[in-house]
Order: sequence, then C-alpha cells, then structure tokens
Amino acid sequence: MALQISLSGKVVLVSGVTSGIGKGIAVMMGRAEAKVAGCGLEPADSPAALAFLSAMQAAGAAAMYTQTDVTDAAQQELWVDAALAAWSRIDILVSNAGANFFEGATNCTEPVWQQNMELNLSAHWRLCRLCRPYLAANGAGVIIIISSNQAYATMPGCFPYNVTKTALTGLVRALAIEWAPAVRVVGLAPGFIDTPGNQQWFASFNDPAEERARTEALHPVKRIGTAEEAGAWCVFLAGEYGGFASGTTYLLDGGRSALLQDEHP
Ligand SMILES: NC(=O)c1ccc[n+]([C@@H]2O[C@H](COP(=O)([O-])OP(=O)(O)OC[C@H]3O[C@@H](n4cnc5c(N)ncnc54)[C@H](O)[C@@H]3O)[C@@H](O)[C@H]2O)c1
Repeated sequence: MALQISLSGKVVLVSGVTSGIGKGIAVMMGRAEAKVAGCGLEPADSPAALAFLSAMQAAGAAAMYTQTDVTDAAQQELWVDAALAAWSRIDILVSNAGANFFEGATNCTEPVWQQNMELNLSAHWRLCRLCRPYLAANGAGVIIIISSNQAYATMPGCFPYNVTKTALTGLVRALAIEWAPAVRVVGLAPGFIDTPGNQQWFASFNDPAEERARTEALHPVKRIGTAEEAGAWCVFLAGEYGGFASGTTYLLDGGRSALLQDEHP
C-alpha cells in the first residue's frame, strides 16, 4: 500500500491562514484529516476568511476561523480558547503569521524595528508558550515555526526581517530542548514561494513574466516553491514519520542557497 500520513483526530492551530503559505499549510493539514483552527488579521466575514473556509471545505476538512492579531496576547488567548471550546484539545501548532519588514539597517526606524520584533519574533514565542500545556497534555505535541531562508543568508535591505527570522532558529532550539519529550519543536525556512505577495512583487515590474523567469532561474530546480509544498512538509514534520525531527530549522529553497552567488556582475 502507498505510504500515507494521517493526522486523523488531531487538532491543528495555524496562524495566518487567509493567504499564502498559511493557507497552503491549513489545506494540506486538512487533507491529512486534521481539524484546523485558523486565524488571521482579516474579519471572519471577509472574502479572505471565507475563501479559507471554502478551501477547507473543498479539502473535506473540519475548520474554523478566528480573527486574531497575534501581536496581541489577549487575542491569542481568545483564538486558543475558541479552538479548545470546539475540539477540546490542541495537538499541533503551526506559528506561521508574519510579514516582510524590508527597511535596511540604516533607514530602519525604531517603530518599524519594534513592529517587526513583535510580529516576527515575540508573537511566536508567546503563542508557543500559550499552547505548550495543551500540546504537552497529549504527550506528543508538535510546534512548527515558519521561518525563512533569510534565517541563513540575506541581501542588502532585508533588515530587520532577516534578524528576527535568524532569531527564530534560536527559539526553535530553546523550546525543543526545554519542552522535550512531550513537545517536539521544529522550524521550516521556506525560500521563494509562489504566494499572492510574491505575485504582486512580480507585477510591480515592467515585465512581470521576465522578472518571474529571472527569479526562477536563480534556483537550481528552475522554479519557485508552492504553498502546498510547504504545507506537505508541515504534515510530514508533524506526522508519525517526522517523530525524530526536533530542534532544527529545515531549509526549503529549491537549492538557491547552495549557489555561492546567484547574480553575476
Ligand atoms: N512568501 C514567501 O516566499 C515566504 C518566504 C519565506 C518565509 N515566508 C514566511 O511565511 C509566512 C507566511 O508568509 P506569506 O508570504 O504566506 O504571507 P501572506 O502575506 O501571504 O499572508 C500572511 C498571513 O498572516 C496573517 N497575518 C499577518 N499579520 C498578522 C497578525 N499580526 N496577526 C495575525 N495574522 C497575521 C495574514 O492575515 C495572512 O493570513 C511568514 O512568516 C513569512 O515570513 C514567506
């Protein structure tokens, strides 16, 4: 029989499900038969939240959505409480919500530094801490923190985003050793993924198709990744065959970082 990964009976929290990678993770978790409690910034009756629920329905998955700003600890609690009220347990947390803060080290202002710290670092720690007792209660909890290839290499102008993505590798290590063995903690560091944000980025060029082709050519696999691929990695890491993975952040970048430099003068 073909290898299958089932998350049947598991309850998964995924932050940032109204778009991009988080939505792909939620759908793939749902396809593995997990129940998914998602959150995002958008109101529950927004087109993006309704599209998330439709995607989950199409995947045949049980899902719920709670509007949540993860930088607000009280809102995090309301989301977690809503999931517990519905399904009484939390088995897996995918802390995915994040945003680009690409300012450069010279131009970055104190408020932007703080906003980036809150969303791309502190909110992850607080959410993990909030969920830990429920994850540990079942003896085999899993946390997946979505980092970035910016954790390992960067480019001019990607500060302070790259600083927090790098720090997340330390968060993964610390939580993995302190909360073991009841909770495994891993990071996933995607490279260039075909998300709405990156589609908008391509669209900002005079010739979007040419820019997309140039970007794809930077990758040894000659394409960029998909949200579903990132989601499938999360299913694997959270599932029964991922049980030896902990304390590490896995790079998923189509080989791009294996090149010493990806542009030639
Ligand atoms: N897209 C990429 O190529 C890429 C590459 C590497 C890493 N990442 C990381 O993957 C994650 C998702 O990125 P994406 O490109 O899919 O993003 P996206 O902009 O498409 O979606 C972001 C999601 O996060 C939610 N969100 C944003 N701020 C929030 C907040 N304060 N509280 C709650 N939810 C919030 C939004 O509602 C939305 O659902 C981020 O952590 C990002 O850094 C993305």
